Amino acid sequence: MKKIIITIDGYSSCGKSTLAKQLAAQLDYVYIDSGAMYRAITLYFIQNRVDWADHEAVKEALGNIHLEFEFNPMTQSSEITLNGENVEHMIREMLVAEKVSEVAAVKEVREFAVAQQQNMGTRKGIVMDGRDIGTTVFPDAELKIFMTADTAIRVERRFKELYAKNKNISIHEVKENLELRDYIDTNREISPLRKAEDAIILDNSQLTQDEQLKLVMQWIEDAVLVQS
Ligand code: CDP
Ligand code: CDP
Repeated sequence: MKKIIITIDGYSSCGKSTLAKQLAAQLDYVYIDSGAMYRAITLYFIQNRVDWADHEAVKEALGNIHLEFEFNPMTQSSEITLNGENVEHMIREMLVAEKVSEVAAVKEVREFAVAQQQNMGTRKGIVMDGRDIGTTVFPDAELKIFMTADTAIRVERRFKELYAKNKNISIHEVKENLELRDYIDTNREISPLRKAEDAIILDNSQLTQDEQLKLVMQWIEDAVLVQS
């Protein structure tokens, strides 16, 4: 089957990365978690006390950041490294979640991340999820999906994930973070989260993971047919 670029954008915790990983496994595509890049940059800024309101400090710090994805055969997924260290677990912590949307709104940060994401897409056969992938990173992608789900369902999904790792987390805290990030991501000046005109909406509030995978595999077949 001809290889294409698939973009998945949408609100926090609606299941973008779950779907993207399944698609990559089924199609033998490369999966890129663009959010992991913004999270890793945020982790670096926190660890090195970089003031992201200071553009010169941001530029200097970005010059010292090297991000890569490595495939972990144990999890069967690509994981992010920050200057050679695997930070996949650390970037999922609340400390990073609380700041990432502020950092991701900074112009220099976006330019740094988008340039690298576009480089990764020079070869087809890629599925990338995020907020601006269909609108800014790959505006010519062959299949664009815009995912959404009811807020209460998204909060519940993310809470379950985080609670499994940290019993001190409260559902209230998760809800606040999710709503705040969605607000900042949708209202920022540069590449705000919005549906690309040619994206297909996938509301998975009432869909199981299997159901959504079947549906999207059909969309991919259709998109490939159009290309050939
Ligand atoms: O998994 P979750 O939906 O919680 O978030 P994520 O995909 O890991 O992204 C974390 C944050 O990075 C988002 O809330 C956005 O602020 C930012 N982000 C972005 O601005 N652009 C992207 N393409 C991906 C993520
Ligand atoms: O990447 P994003 O933040 O959009 O979400 P995710 O991390 O892929 O998914 C958040 C949680 O929702 C995961 O624990 C998934 O297993 C779960 N999920 C679900 O329960 N039902 C779906 N149809 C899709 C995802």
